[in-house]
Amino acid sequence: MYKDKTILITGGTGSLGKALTAHILSKHPEIKKLIIFSRDEQKQFQMALEYPSDQYPKIRFFIGDVRDRERLKRAFKNVDYVIHAAAMKHVHLAEYNPDECVKTNIHGAQNVIDACLDTNVERVVALSTDKACAPINLYGATKLASDKLFIAANNITGWNPIKFSVVRYGNVMGSNGSVIPFFLNKKQTGILPITDPTMTRFNISLQGGVDMVMHALEHAWGGEIFIPKIPSYKITDVAEAIGPECTKPVVGIRPGEKIHEEMITESDSYYTYDLGKYYTILPATHKWKLAEYIAHFKATKVPVGFKYNSGENTAWETVDSLRKLIKQHVDPSFVH
Ligand SMILES: NC(=O)c1ccc[n+]([C@@H]2O[C@H](COP(=O)([O-])OP(=O)(O)OC[C@H]3O[C@@H](n4cnc5c(N)ncnc54)[C@H](OP(=O)(O)O)[C@@H]3O)[C@@H](O)[C@H]2O)c1
Repeated sequence: MYKDKTILITGGTGSLGKALTAHILSKHPEIKKLIIFSRDEQKQFQMALEYPSDQYPKIRFFIGDVRDRERLKRAFKNVDYVIHAAAMKHVHLAEYNPDECVKTNIHGAQNVIDACLDTNVERVVALSTDKACAPINLYGATKLASDKLFIAANNITGWNPIKFSVVRYGNVMGSNGSVIPFFLNKKQTGILPITDPTMTRFNISLQGGVDMVMHALEHAWGGEIFIPKIPSYKITDVAEAIGPECTKPVVGIRPGEKIHEEMITESDSYYTYDLGKYYTILPATHKWKLAEYIAHFKATKVPVGFKYNSGENTAWETVDSLRKLIKQHVDPSFVH
């Protein structure tokens, strides 16, 4: 499905965008072009140094803002697949600058949809987050609105065979602004602040995120929210893994934070199917036949009342497994 196809990643210079770029260029040399779309010329300049055009003739860089629909339309000309990863994602910055977050995460999502519908894009995968599930902060609320826009976009495609789907997952290990790099930096001070000793989070590697996005691109029928089955960790175990010798004062939960993150609520259980390695929340209305979907993917309906959250997960990282993962995925020089 990749032969002679052009793929565009909004937010292509971000953590996920760069991991997707490396994956696509190495695993799918048969593509025609890979376009990186984002605002900051400096990040694009740096990324272009990593991918010199004589060695990587298929990569292109396109400056643009997802708030600018006309620019998106220009960028999407002759693009086949779009991965929408551009977002404002820091919870506290979204709380402080709510209108900016709305403009990027909600208006930007609608602009991406409109530009896809106005061009010949065939498949679109939008990135979501566990914080969009029963959201309590603005970031999560904007991503929930974005999810709804992408899912509903399948209703307005007419005879256009374009498919929109969503991938939702939790904390990406070591991504910009997340707890592991924060603790690694703080370790030298001898103090690792713990917001709440009972706090838990889902954990996924960047490669795990890439795999889920590629799966959605390849297999979505339109309107699904794909949710990988991933382990949780306790924040106290992350602190113990990184700085066993550090003092760990409890500083209290921050505005907009949950003790446990959620990916599927009891209310979602009515539409949720287990597909083995992952779950999908299916849209309430769809163009395809549910019985065919279930048969094709050997999907099993989860019981009514089922929920998937980081506090009641069945798979857990331990202090030891976290140490191995940090060395493998975040900091090869990590020693404890
Ligand atoms: N990291 C996580 O733990 C995590 C977990 C779950 C879901 N997600 C979701 O995964 C996606 C990617 O996250 P990430 O960690 O890769 O984020 P990131 O590292 O912060 O990268 C964000 C990217 O979006 C671009 N961008 C931001 N605003 C833009 C705008 N208005 N127009 C165009 N480009 C814009 C940024 O480049 P410029 O600033 O140069 O424009 C950058 O390339 C996001 O949708 C996020 O919500 C992330």
